[in-house]
Amino acid sequence: MKILAIETSCDETAVALLEASGTDTTASFRILGNALLSQIDIHKAYGGVFPALAKRAHAENITALLSNTLEEASMLREDVQVVSEEVREKVETILEREPGLARALMTFLSETERPSIDAIAVTHGPGLEPALWVGVNVARALSVAWNIPIVPINHMEGHFLAALGEMREDIIHIENVSLPILGLLISGGHTELQLMEPWVQYRLLGSTRDDAVGEAFDKVARMMDLPYPGGPEISRLAERDREDAGTNPFTLPRPMIDSGDYDFSFSGIKTAVMYMLKEHGALTDEEKQQLARAFEDAVTEVLWKKTADALAATGAKTLILGGGVSANVHIQRVFKKEIAEEFSDVTLRIPVSELTTDNAVMIGIAGFYRALKKEYATEVRADGNLRLSS
Ligand code: KG4
Ligand code: ZN
Repeated sequence: MKILAIETSCDETAVALLEASGTDTTASFRILGNALLSQIDIHKAYGGVFPALAKRAHAENITALLSNTLEEASMLREDVQVVSEEVREKVETILEREPGLARALMTFLSETERPSIDAIAVTHGPGLEPALWVGVNVARALSVAWNIPIVPINHMEGHFLAALGEMREDIIHIENVSLPILGLLISGGHTELQLMEPWVQYRLLGSTRDDAVGEAFDKVARMMDLPYPGGPEISRLAERDREDAGTNPFTLPRPMIDSGDYDFSFSGIKTAVMYMLKEHGALTDEEKQQLARAFEDAVTEVLWKKTADALAATGAKTLILGGGVSANVHIQRVFKKEIAEEFSDVTLRIPVSELTTDNAVMIGIAGFYRALKKEYATEVRADGNLRLSS
């Protein structure tokens, strides 16, 4: 099954084309085309994602990314196409609020033969709603023009399932996965523990009551005058401090670590950093490294404690880390060590590095399993607050 996947939920515009085969229990995914454009440079000046600019950048770039993806997959056949008046009208109605995108897409459609694709998977939530609508509307327009069904995808399910993939000879394999699966999903917008059982059905065990962990990384980095996105910057500094392995003058609280539930709170750590900086004044380079390390240690300890409690309580056989923050080397290292020592019967799966932060391949992977269930939609709407568990 060939799946075209589109992701525009936040600050990455991404399109991918996958050849997927198999079943729920044994599946493989060949990446035929994969195009991604990060908007980090646009948002850097604001220290965070600016929704109106995110939407505009998605609209400006998505047609070229679509074309590049098809080209990489050797499925771009340029040829004069007669687009019927009916299709033209429908595409223009779908994209009526984006006249520039409507024009670009019509030009693309009038020059490109319909590729042989079986389904279009598109992220319809959660995320920034104006940004999500760009991807959703492009999917709707292509669906009308090429008569290809749409499978709407939850972005968090993309992160969850991508973490199960193992890369061998450029093909992603998802197989031999034991259920139940506990997922710790940590990104810029989410921090949650989800339990998957049965396959692709989720139960929310707990989530953050305030900031997402990635958001805390980004906000603390901003307070320390580090560029956006802060996660990789803090990680880099903290790792340097661990190499030096000195004592750390900074300690930060571990909010809710003994709350007895699976909920998280990260705004307290952020506030503690704020007061610490006020009291302390400007930081030396060494102190920045130490503070970064203290922050990472506090966050990692809370994440592991809640995850360990959830593993013990649910008897989960597999643990996945998913979402942008799962790229963090310290979190990965601590989780690997703790699992080996305390839960040797649990398999830990972490996404291959290309699939940790936002991308369209993960949306295509989720699209395959949803297409197997024939979850095609006639009406697709963006929903910024879409949930994974019902
Ligand atoms: O999943 P993602 O790409 O986008 C969302 O869906 O939010 O996650 C982005 C988040 C940002 O907050 C970024 O700072 C964080 O992931 N991040 C990291 C690292 N790489 C990305 N946080 C900690 N350490 C990293 N190495
Ligand atoms: Zn994400």
